[in-house]
Amino acid sequence: MKIISSIEELRDQLRGQLRTAFVPTMGNLHEGHLSLMRLARKHGDPVVASIFVNRLQFGPNDDFDKYPRTFQSDVEKLEKEGVYVLFAPTEKDLYPEPQEFRVRPPDDLGNTLEGEFRPGFFCGVTTVVLKLFSCVQPRVAVFGKKDYQQLMIVRNMSKQFALPTEIIAAETYRADDGLALSSRNGYLSVSERKEAPLLFKVLNQVADEVRTGCVDIAAIENNAMQQLLERDWKPDYISVRKRADLQIPSTDELAQGVPLVVLAAARLGVTRLIDNLEI
Ligand code: PAF
Repeated sequence: MKIISSIEELRDQLRGQLRTAFVPTMGNLHEGHLSLMRLARKHGDPVVASIFVNRLQFGPNDDFDKYPRTFQSDVEKLEKEGVYVLFAPTEKDLYPEPQEFRVRPPDDLGNTLEGEFRPGFFCGVTTVVLKLFSCVQPRVAVFGKKDYQQLMIVRNMSKQFALPTEIIAAETYRADDGLALSSRNGYLSVSERKEAPLLFKVLNQVADEVRTGCVDIAAIENNAMQQLLERDWKPDYISVRKRADLQIPSTDELAQGVPLVVLAAARLGVTRLIDNLEI
């Protein structure tokens, strides 16, 4: 595997490649990331991964400085997966001057759910993803459904800018007890790790209640929030949305059986977990 940090060198290395499959990451790789690499391989060749902890998507009180950086073990994992190039730019490589041009997602998609609780987050994500796409020029790029809103925003960005990159969605990789794998799970204490699968259980419960035809979505959501609060979680949101645009479904749309997804974010101790489930 070639490890490349400069944009120029990356372009030289990938020149003429028309079927590149790309997986952008922030490192601290786990089985979830590796499943994205395997899916990428099915959709293109060569597989290119990136590791870059993108300062633009962290708020002033977020965990940028303590975000886990495990470069050596990440490299070993990617080598085993047969990744052809790891693009691992420094901040100077990717942002040699202040990144003044930014991509701003539309408010209805970018300022709801995660966007409401992490102002500027999606602008940081889309800006770096567009820049990474411009460096790698992939034919396909793989994003996990775990970050459902991110996946949807990147997909819409790619479509609206007519980028030649198809966005492939990968299923969420879960531990046996249901907890979605995430780099941030490493912040959980032993007892919090035991408690953490409750988030997925609550999502399943919401999904079951919606499937039975109950239309009082607000009551279902409140009940789910309450269950987390009772066990000392601090939920930001548990919200049933339309899969197509992540907006709140109307009563008519519910009656018509519009495809739905329930999304949640909640803090357990100092760790903020997000998860979702298609209904
Ligand atoms: O999902 C992530 O790890 C990041 O948001 C991404 C897509 C690599 C952009 O920094």
